[in-house]
Amino acid sequence: MRRSSHLHAAAALLIIGALWFIMFCVDIPPDETSDNVQIQKKETTYQHTPQTTETAGVFTWDRCACNESAANVSGFSSLPGHIQDFLFYRHCRHFPMLLDVPNKCGGLHKSAEVFLLLVIKSSPLNYDRREVLRKTWAKERLQNGVWIRRVFLSGTTGTGFEKENLNKLLRLENREHNDILHWDFNDTFFNLTLKQILFLQWMDKNCRQARFLLNGDDDVFANTDNMVEYLQNLRNNNGDQHHFSGELIYYLGPMRDPGTKYYIPVQVQESEIYPPYCGGGGFLLSGYTAMVIYQMSHNITILPIDDVYMGMCLQKAGLGPESHFGVRTAGLNVPSERVDAYDPCYYREIILIHRFQPHQIYLMWHGIHDPNLKCKN
Ligand SMILES: *[C@@H]1O[C@H](CO)[C@@H](O)[C@H](O)[C@H]1NC(C)=O
Ligand SMILES: *[C@@H]1O[C@H](CO)[C@@H](O)[C@H](O)[C@H]1NC(C)=O
Ligand SMILES: *[C@@H]1O[C@H](CO)[C@@H](O)[C@H](O)[C@H]1NC(C)=O
Ligand SMILES: *[C@@H]1O[C@H](CO)[C@@H](O)[C@H](O)[C@H]1NC(C)=O
Ligand SMILES: *[C@@H]1O[C@H](CO)[C@@H](O)[C@H](O)[C@H]1NC(C)=O
Repeated sequence: MRRSSHLHAAAALLIIGALWFIMFCVDIPPDETSDNVQIQKKETTYQHTPQTTETAGVFTWDRCACNESAANVSGFSSLPGHIQDFLFYRHCRHFPMLLDVPNKCGGLHKSAEVFLLLVIKSSPLNYDRREVLRKTWAKERLQNGVWIRRVFLSGTTGTGFEKENLNKLLRLENREHNDILHWDFNDTFFNLTLKQILFLQWMDKNCRQARFLLNGDDDVFANTDNMVEYLQNLRNNNGDQHHFSGELIYYLGPMRDPGTKYYIPVQVQESEIYPPYCGGGGFLLSGYTAMVIYQMSHNITILPIDDVYMGMCLQKAGLGPESHFGVRTAGLNVPSERVDAYDPCYYREIILIHRFQPHQIYLMWHGIHDPNLKCKN
């Protein structure tokens, strides 16, 4: 329940690490997307070639078919439309890739040189958020001697011309910044778990040895300088051991109130409890743990709440998420209403905090880097 972290007003934080580990190489079955990925590869290499082949619909693989018998579950007709829709397509895990950056990590074997991969879910309309992130905390750079890289994860929005135009926007952005993984599925709240799984498929293929990942939303403020320093200071800072941390949430179960965004009826999940998990606004994990989650996910039916689903995968692997200090969550200790709640002094030590607007991110990033910043403590 990523948004419930909003309710808690808040933030996440995180950390740890370890050396990377070689998952036995699972052969990836050639899937329907590979032609398309080839096309994209060419495009990212020869950026001036006309982009005529990218339009959805040009590709000819079979679309994942609707599971008609989902409608047979009791009470189906009384479920809200988006949940019916979810049940019809719940089994679909492969979608055509519209944009790829296969060399983001320098190729599979060089991917160990990526210390922190920023994996940011962003729907096509959020152009302003992506732009500000590229200029601030998600800037690709050598930080304290190690590489930070960035990818945005997107599906599609709308239909017809609107969809085409937004696809074009992402193509243009990707041409300039080389940082978008774009799949042809509807980018909706209930498809966020799908987005997460598609990313893990991509990572397994292209960036398996990245040491650590920050997995989060495009509306957070993350102090990636601190994050790198924190991860580097871990005893096991190579990413080859389990690490998964953030804003820990436990003792929660599915919300059965049809009025909430997080409504999960028994037809979707019967069990009344969720495993412990970290709020989806932002959590840190090792490359090792990301690949364990991927392996587990093959065998776990999709639950539409993406951060809970991560917790389910961890649980199946006998692992758990943890809460980390180091970060103050949203109810920052801003002493009183008479001081500026966005005073950079309160944010210097933070690792991640949820719900910042683009202009606030820009101001804060510059604020915490201001050499003249004077803080009382
Ligand atoms: C589901 O209902 C359809 C008719 O709507 C029927 O043909 C089918 O056998 C049912 N499937 C199951 C698994 O009950
Ligand atoms: C289709 O839905 C039915 C009823 O929920 C379910 O039993 C079946 O496993 C689903 N099929 C697939 C391929 O997911
Ligand atoms: C995606 O969502 C739109 C509405 O936004 C809908 O018209 C369209 O049919 C959906 N596409 C698929 C493949 O489900
Ligand atoms: C997820 O995306 C697929 C492909 O566009 C679409 O058919 C499905 O309706 C979407 N699911 C939800 C719950 O939005
Ligand atoms: C999935 O789980 C079942 C039982 O829990 C097991 O028999 C099966 O081998 C698993 N499949 C994969 C691909 O892990």
